Amino acid sequence: MIKKYPVITIDGASGVGKSTLSYSISKKLNWNFLESGYMYRIMAYYIIKYDLSLKKKNIISLFPYITFDFKYMNNGIKVFFKNKDISNEIHSEKISMMASKIAIFPYVRNWLLNKQRKFRRFPGLVTNGRDMGTMVFPDAIVKIFLKKSLLERAKKRKLDLRLRGFKMKIEKIIKDIKQRDYRDKNRILCPLFPAKDAIIIDSTSMSLEKTLKKSMNIIYKKLLNK
Ligand code: DC
Repeated sequence: MIKKYPVITIDGASGVGKSTLSYSISKKLNWNFLESGYMYRIMAYYIIKYDLSLKKKNIISLFPYITFDFKYMNNGIKVFFKNKDISNEIHSEKISMMASKIAIFPYVRNWLLNKQRKFRRFPGLVTNGRDMGTMVFPDAIVKIFLKKSLLERAKKRKLDLRLRGFKMKIEKIIKDIKQRDYRDKNRILCPLFPAKDAIIIDSTSMSLEKTLKKSMNIIYKKLLNK
């Protein structure tokens, strides 16, 4: 049985800055960390690598072979496939699109659900994604839902992509973000929306430091009240 260690969830659409924020929180608290989007991205990586069509039987046959090989560094996570560093590759637009396509399949989400819950370990877990506060950890002690304007998200994504070696026009990034948002928000299972008890933070005109400070205030208040 999995013990009920405390969980903090940071949910939101792509490019709102939830990865950096949640990783920084996990470092401050010295808690475990899970970037759930990486699980969908790793699955997408396998599907593209093995050139599979999106048929249920193809995807299910992959499950036993998928390994989630994360290494936690000072400035973020690295992801490996058979010892090869694929951290940059899994951020390509192709993989981002594929990840959002497979995220609509209930059997994919169900398979990942248990794997995600296993990250709930001593002394606690900070995790981010789309449904971490609504579906995966509904009893999380703090749920933050991050927002940012579309233009700021696109600018951030452009910079992230450039740092990872990809060049893309802002117009194309905006178009892709809208497409992924639509899919994330309109899927039947676990669509992207804030949990009822989530605190919404709009970080459009806030630096990471300010967003982190605001989040830590909320978290410390909660932890000290317990
Ligand atoms: O957070 P991200 O952009 O790395 O996520 C990639 C895709 O994975 C996203 O388009 C939707 C899916 N995803 C999801 O459906 N649920 C999560 N908890 C995390 C990601």
